[in-house]
Amino acid sequence: MREPVPVGVLISGRGSNLKALIDAEQDAYRIVLVASNVEEPPGLAHARDAGIATFARGHRGMAREAFDRLIDDELRAHGVRAVALAGYMRLLSPWFVDRWAGRMVNIHPSLLPRHKGLHTHEAALAAGDARHGCTVHLVTAALDDGPALAQAEVPVLPGDTPETLAARVLVEEHRLYPPTLAALVETL
Ligand code: GRF
Repeated sequence: MREPVPVGVLISGRGSNLKALIDAEQDAYRIVLVASNVEEPPGLAHARDAGIATFARGHRGMAREAFDRLIDDELRAHGVRAVALAGYMRLLSPWFVDRWAGRMVNIHPSLLPRHKGLHTHEAALAAGDARHGCTVHLVTAALDDGPALAQAEVPVLPGDTPETLAARVLVEEHRLYPPTLAALVETL
Protein backbone atom coordinates (compact mmCIF):
# COMPACT_ATOMS: atom_id res chain seq x y z
CA MET A 1 0.00 0.00 0.00
CA ARG A 2 1.09 3.57 -0.68
CA GLU A 3 2.38 5.75 2.10
CA PRO A 4 -0.15 8.41 3.16
CA VAL A 5 0.42 11.73 1.39
CA PRO A 6 1.62 14.44 3.81
CA VAL A 7 -0.98 17.21 3.99
CA GLY A 8 -0.92 20.71 5.48
CA VAL A 9 -4.15 22.30 6.69
CA LEU A 10 -4.61 26.07 6.90
CA ILE A 11 -7.13 27.45 9.40
CA SER A 12 -8.12 30.80 10.87
CA GLY A 13 -10.79 29.92 13.41
CA ARG A 14 -12.78 27.21 15.09
CA GLY A 15 -11.33 24.34 13.09
CA SER A 16 -14.26 21.93 13.04
CA ASN A 17 -13.38 20.84 9.50
CA LEU A 18 -9.78 20.36 10.60
CA LYS A 19 -11.09 18.11 13.38
CA ALA A 20 -13.13 16.12 10.86
CA LEU A 21 -10.04 15.70 8.67
CA ILE A 22 -8.01 14.55 11.68
CA ASP A 23 -10.69 12.15 12.93
CA ALA A 24 -11.21 10.50 9.54
CA GLU A 25 -9.26 7.41 8.56
CA GLN A 26 -5.96 8.89 7.49
CA ASP A 27 -4.91 6.10 5.16
CA ALA A 28 -4.64 8.18 2.00
CA TYR A 29 -3.36 11.34 3.67
CA ARG A 30 -1.63 12.24 6.90
CA ILE A 31 -1.89 15.76 8.35
CA VAL A 32 1.65 16.78 9.22
CA LEU A 33 1.21 20.52 9.76
CA VAL A 34 -1.59 22.90 10.71
CA ALA A 35 -0.78 26.53 9.92
CA SER A 36 -2.68 29.71 10.63
CA ASN A 37 -2.62 33.43 9.90
CA VAL A 38 -4.04 34.00 13.39
CA GLU A 39 -1.80 33.70 16.45
CA GLU A 40 -4.08 31.56 18.57
CA PRO A 41 -7.12 30.31 16.66
CA PRO A 42 -9.36 28.00 18.74
CA GLY A 43 -8.93 25.24 16.15
CA LEU A 44 -5.23 24.90 16.85
CA ALA A 45 -6.14 22.87 19.93
CA HIS A 46 -7.34 20.05 17.67
CA ALA A 47 -3.90 19.89 16.09
CA ARG A 48 -2.13 19.94 19.42
CA ASP A 49 -4.43 17.25 20.84
CA ALA A 50 -3.52 15.06 17.89
CA GLY A 51 0.21 15.76 18.21
CA ILE A 52 0.36 17.56 14.86
CA ALA A 53 2.97 20.28 14.32
CA THR A 54 1.60 23.83 14.22
CA PHE A 55 2.70 27.17 12.82
CA ALA A 56 0.62 30.18 13.80
CA ARG A 57 1.51 33.77 13.17
CA GLY A 58 -0.55 36.94 12.72
CA HIS A 59 -0.27 38.28 9.20
CA ARG A 60 -0.60 41.95 10.15
CA GLY A 61 2.07 44.22 8.77
CA MET A 62 3.25 41.69 6.21
CA ALA A 63 2.70 41.86 2.47
CA ARG A 64 0.46 39.07 1.22
CA GLU A 65 3.10 37.17 -0.74
CA ALA A 66 5.76 37.60 1.94
CA PHE A 67 3.43 36.02 4.47
CA ASP A 68 2.49 33.23 2.09
CA ARG A 69 6.18 32.51 1.55
CA LEU A 70 6.55 31.98 5.30
CA ILE A 71 3.68 29.50 5.25
CA ASP A 72 5.13 27.84 2.18
CA ASP A 73 8.52 27.45 3.87
CA GLU A 74 6.81 25.65 6.76
CA LEU A 75 4.80 23.43 4.44
CA ARG A 76 7.93 22.45 2.51
CA ALA A 77 9.91 21.90 5.71
CA HIS A 78 7.28 19.35 6.78
CA GLY A 79 7.27 17.59 3.42
CA VAL A 80 3.71 18.64 2.62
CA ARG A 81 2.46 17.56 -0.82
CA ALA A 82 -1.13 18.81 -0.68
CA VAL A 83 -2.87 21.67 1.13
CA ALA A 84 -6.40 21.76 2.55
CA LEU A 85 -7.96 25.12 3.42
CA ALA A 86 -10.38 24.73 6.31
CA GLY A 87 -11.85 28.09 7.22
CA TYR A 88 -8.72 29.96 6.16
CA MET A 89 -9.92 33.56 6.06
CA ARG A 90 -7.09 35.25 4.21
CA LEU A 91 -6.85 35.68 0.48
CA LEU A 92 -3.85 33.85 -0.91
CA SER A 93 -1.29 35.47 -3.20
CA PRO A 94 -1.19 34.42 -6.87
CA TRP A 95 2.31 33.11 -6.18
CA PHE A 96 1.07 30.70 -3.52
CA VAL A 97 -1.96 29.60 -5.54
CA ASP A 98 0.26 28.89 -8.51
CA ARG A 99 2.80 26.99 -6.42
CA TRP A 100 0.10 24.63 -5.10
CA ALA A 101 -2.01 24.45 -8.26
CA GLY A 102 -3.85 21.14 -8.51
CA ARG A 103 -2.79 20.25 -4.95
CA MET A 104 -4.81 22.70 -2.87
CA VAL A 105 -8.48 22.36 -1.98
CA ASN A 106 -11.00 24.46 -0.09
CA ILE A 107 -14.35 23.74 1.47
CA HIS A 108 -16.99 26.37 0.86
CA PRO A 109 -20.42 26.45 2.52
CA SER A 110 -22.60 26.73 -0.57
CA LEU A 111 -23.44 24.86 -3.74
CA LEU A 112 -20.91 26.67 -5.93
CA PRO A 113 -21.12 28.48 -8.26
CA ARG A 114 -23.99 29.86 -6.17
CA HIS A 115 -23.09 32.16 -3.28
CA LYS A 116 -19.36 32.76 -3.45
CA GLY A 117 -17.70 34.73 -0.65
CA LEU A 118 -18.98 35.28 2.87
CA HIS A 119 -22.48 35.03 4.42
CA THR A 120 -23.56 32.16 2.20
CA HIS A 121 -26.36 30.96 4.48
CA GLU A 122 -27.94 34.41 4.59
CA ALA A 123 -27.61 34.58 0.81
CA ALA A 124 -29.28 31.20 0.27
CA LEU A 125 -32.20 32.23 2.48
CA ALA A 126 -32.51 35.65 0.83
CA ALA A 127 -32.55 34.01 -2.60
CA GLY A 128 -35.32 31.63 -1.55
CA ASP A 129 -33.20 28.59 -2.46
CA ALA A 130 -34.87 25.24 -1.81
CA ARG A 131 -31.49 23.48 -1.64
CA HIS A 132 -28.20 24.57 -0.11
CA GLY A 133 -25.01 22.76 0.81
CA CYS A 134 -21.26 22.74 0.51
CA THR A 135 -18.57 22.27 -2.10
CA VAL A 136 -14.99 21.04 -2.02
CA HIS A 137 -13.10 22.63 -4.89
CA LEU A 138 -9.61 23.06 -6.21
CA VAL A 139 -8.20 26.48 -5.38
CA THR A 140 -7.50 28.79 -8.31
CA ALA A 141 -6.70 32.48 -8.51
CA ALA A 142 -10.33 33.67 -8.39
CA LEU A 143 -12.12 33.39 -5.03
CA ASP A 144 -14.30 30.26 -4.60
CA ASP A 145 -14.04 29.63 -8.30
CA GLY A 146 -11.94 26.51 -8.89
CA PRO A 147 -13.33 23.24 -10.30
CA ALA A 148 -15.65 21.46 -7.87
CA LEU A 149 -14.48 18.02 -6.74
CA ALA A 150 -17.56 17.14 -4.68
CA GLN A 151 -20.76 18.66 -3.32
CA ALA A 152 -23.29 17.74 -0.66
CA GLU A 153 -26.82 19.12 -0.53
CA VAL A 154 -29.22 19.87 2.29
CA PRO A 155 -32.81 21.09 2.11
CA VAL A 156 -33.68 24.61 3.18
CA LEU A 157 -36.56 24.15 5.63
CA PRO A 158 -39.40 26.50 6.57
CA GLY A 159 -38.36 28.64 9.52
CA ASP A 160 -34.64 28.20 8.87
CA THR A 161 -32.34 30.91 10.14
CA PRO A 162 -28.76 31.38 8.97
CA GLU A 163 -27.71 29.53 12.12
CA THR A 164 -29.94 26.47 11.69
CA LEU A 165 -29.00 26.25 8.04
CA ALA A 166 -25.29 26.64 8.80
CA ALA A 167 -25.48 23.82 11.34
CA ARG A 168 -27.20 21.50 8.82
CA VAL A 169 -24.57 22.32 6.18
CA LEU A 170 -21.68 21.89 8.62
CA VAL A 171 -22.64 18.26 9.29
CA GLU A 172 -22.32 17.65 5.56
CA GLU A 173 -19.02 19.55 5.37
CA HIS A 174 -17.52 17.21 7.93
CA ARG A 175 -18.75 14.18 5.97
CA LEU A 176 -17.67 15.48 2.58
CA TYR A 177 -14.21 16.87 3.19
CA PRO A 178 -12.18 13.82 4.33
CA PRO A 179 -13.11 11.42 1.50
CA THR A 180 -12.76 14.18 -1.10
CA LEU A 181 -9.28 15.08 0.13
CA ALA A 182 -8.38 11.38 0.19
CA ALA A 183 -9.57 10.97 -3.41
CA LEU A 184 -7.55 13.97 -4.54
CA VAL A 185 -4.28 12.90 -2.94
CA GLU A 186 -4.64 9.45 -4.44
CA THR A 187 -4.28 11.10 -7.85
CA LEU A 188 -1.05 12.92 -6.95
C1 GRF B 1 -16.82 26.37 7.17
O1 GRF B 1 -18.19 26.65 7.04
C2 GRF B 1 -16.15 26.31 5.84
O2 GRF B 1 -16.98 25.81 4.83
C3 GRF B 1 -15.83 27.75 5.56
O3 GRF B 1 -15.48 28.29 6.80
C4 GRF B 1 -16.09 27.53 7.85
C5 GRF B 1 -14.98 27.05 8.71
O4 GRF B 1 -15.46 26.37 9.85
N1 GRF B 1 -14.80 27.87 4.57
P1 GRF B 1 -14.46 25.53 10.75
O5 GRF B 1 -13.35 26.47 11.17
O6 GRF B 1 -13.95 24.39 9.91
O7 GRF B 1 -15.28 25.07 11.90
